[in-house]
Amino acid sequence: MMERFEILVVGELNVDLILNGLPSLPEEGKEILANEMTLTLGSSSAIFASNASVLGNKVAFLGKIGNDSFGELVIESLENKKVNTGLIIKSEKEKTGATIVLNYGENRAMVTHPGAMETMTLADIHEDMLVRARHLHVSSIYLQPGIKKDLTALFTMAKGLGLTTSLDMQWDPEEKWDIDVKNLLPLVDVFLPNEAELLALTAQKDIDSAISMLKPYVNSLIIKMGNKGSRGVERERDITAPPYLNDKVIDAIGAGDSFNSGFITRYLEGEPLEECLRYGNLAGAVNTTAAGGTGAFTSLKAFRKTARKHFGV
Ligand SMILES: Nc1ncnc2c1ncn2[C@@H]1O[C@H](COP(=O)(O)OP(=O)(O)O)[C@@H](O)[C@H]1O
Ligand SMILES: [Mg+2]
Repeated sequence: MMERFEILVVGELNVDLILNGLPSLPEEGKEILANEMTLTLGSSSAIFASNASVLGNKVAFLGKIGNDSFGELVIESLENKKVNTGLIIKSEKEKTGATIVLNYGENRAMVTHPGAMETMTLADIHEDMLVRARHLHVSSIYLQPGIKKDLTALFTMAKGLGLTTSLDMQWDPEEKWDIDVKNLLPLVDVFLPNEAELLALTAQKDIDSAISMLKPYVNSLIIKMGNKGSRGVERERDITAPPYLNDKVIDAIGAGDSFNSGFITRYLEGEPLEECLRYGNLAGAVNTTAAGGTGAFTSLKAFRKTARKHFGV
């Protein structure tokens, strides 16, 4: 028997090399020293997969890396969180993606080499992979042009095989927002943009106009609103869920991905929209109590302890 999963994540994979304690941002032709350095698993999709696994789901990842040491780090980090990596493709041609983050005071500069993540296509995804999962989650489509062009076909395949689906498109660095909203969104059971992405996608100035525009096409539209919590819009319902306010935010890196992991956990348990939003908000808030996207999700026990200590739940 093939192992079965609750969630199959299709997404980008990369490492983050984070340099802290810079005296300034670098200048052309000069060299500066960074006091601290961290090499860690990056990518929104990987944060979602890791945290969904910690929250109790069996998760498998389908993505593309290079045959190199950064790729090894990606695999090892996912496996540490019990995410199944058997479907990850190792390219002999491209390298594992990497982001170099230069943190200087409140400012940061980033350089990304996408590498292998850009070259995964629909041809790499087969029915026999999808049927092993109950739910398909796709994230960061603008970093994966090979997947983006066939996104509607991918979701059609998943729905045809009886999976439930979710999509967090994330920010489009080119700001083209070129997805086929009318044909794609009806195939997405849970669509999870943040406010800025929703406005940019619809080219609207206010959230209510953006919602009206998408309403004919979406099933569940879940809008992440940072420290204002989240809002869930369905045909007959429109619920705003208050945040678990954290007054000592360490950083909000990955808060949206953690929100997704909480929301989808409850969604797959068949819980009502209110509870999905509440648990998403809790996961997003817990995320902000530690550095990076996975720092607060070392185990379910640790997650529960933080939820109790910081938010009284
Ligand atoms: N400062 C905060 N305090 C409490 N919850 C937060 C805070 N920032 C984010 N969250 C939670 O995390 C969720 C996702 O964060 P948000 O910044 O909206 O997403 P993204 O990371 O995609 O931009 C929010 O909807 C909220 O539930
Ligand atoms: Mg996000």
